[in-house]
Amino acid sequence: ASKRVIFSGIQPTGILHLGNYLGAISNWVKLQNEATADDDVIFSIVGWHALTLPQNPKELSKSRANMLATLLAFGIDPKKSTVFHQEDNQCHAELAWILSCITPVGKLRRMTTWKARLADSRNANDESEVDESMLNTGLFTYPVLQAADILAYRATHVPVGEDQTQHLELSRDLAENFNRTFNSKKRFFPIPTQLITPCRRVLSLKDPSSKMSKSAPDVSSRILLTDTSSQIERKIKGAVTDSTPGISYDPVNRPGTSNLLSILSACTGETVDQIVPRYEGKGHGHLKKDVAEALECLMKSPREEFHRLQEEQGFLASIAAEGAAKAKERSSKTLKAVREMIGL
Ligand code: ADP
Ligand code: NA
Repeated sequence: ASKRVIFSGIQPTGILHLGNYLGAISNWVKLQNEATADDDVIFSIVGWHALTLPQNPKELSKSRANMLATLLAFGIDPKKSTVFHQEDNQCHAELAWILSCITPVGKLRRMTTWKARLADSRNANDESEVDESMLNTGLFTYPVLQAADILAYRATHVPVGEDQTQHLELSRDLAENFNRTFNSKKRFFPIPTQLITPCRRVLSLKDPSSKMSKSAPDVSSRILLTDTSSQIERKIKGAVTDSTPGISYDPVNRPGTSNLLSILSACTGETVDQIVPRYEGKGHGHLKKDVAEALECLMKSPREEFHRLQEEQGFLASIAAEGAAKAKERSSKTLKAVREMIGL
């Protein structure tokens, strides 16, 4: 098999929730542990991306260290993966600038993430009027920074959810555009492939028509890495289900119940079909009790490890420094070649 360079990133914002773990980080750990000795596996905590939205500097600084502790607590192993803070490696910013100079504005305007921001900023009195003065340039160009994150390592595989397909398409376009413009004979940048994360969309415990998210105002809608066993129990007990008797898996008509079943399935490794028959003649109370227990079993040791690591800031700083050195070693080779190709 040919050598793979796997790259993915996560923003350092807030305490990680169950959706982030089941939808992203658990997959990272799996990829890391299944990687061969030839593969490079690189995970970045992308602080510059977090700046596209207003951040409290003190909080951001704490979240940044917390995210590193979180990744380690869930099993990202710095001996197997390169794990580092994006802002510790200036190569990302330099390459982002260079790529922005071959990125058509129109392409960024077509990003659905940008269109959603525009829609949010529409004038309340006049729907047709968009107030661009309320939107910062970073929010517009961050897909280019994402492309730089990936291409700085000449990554071949990018494990991200389907919501990132359009952004990865831009990375692919920019890689091709760069190769065509500056490196016609060889393919300097590999065209990165999306490794679609097996769809495990965790829904809000309070509104099962939306996904579990850190931005929902009601904190009881999500399970956090730091939740104690009694907090988990309380949140699951309060999860919105339905009044249909019995337990069945029907995501369309019974989203709340089905969400609990998929969480249970993710925790125990059983399929939903194996789980459902056990609830014959039983109700939501039984299911919720089992989900809370399974979640506690899943989260207990990462939670304890997270709290232990929070007391080891010196250790975290040394892991971050080693990760940054490894990342820089790789990406500075890319940037050296890029500078030569562009003539600077
Ligand atoms: P949030 O939606 O809470 O702001 P992010 O957008 O920062 O989370 O997502 C970080 C990672 O976690 C992404 O890879 C995203 O796809 C994944 N993720 C976030 N929420 C969920 C969810 N409810 N179910 C599955 N994956 C999720
Ligand atoms: Na989000």
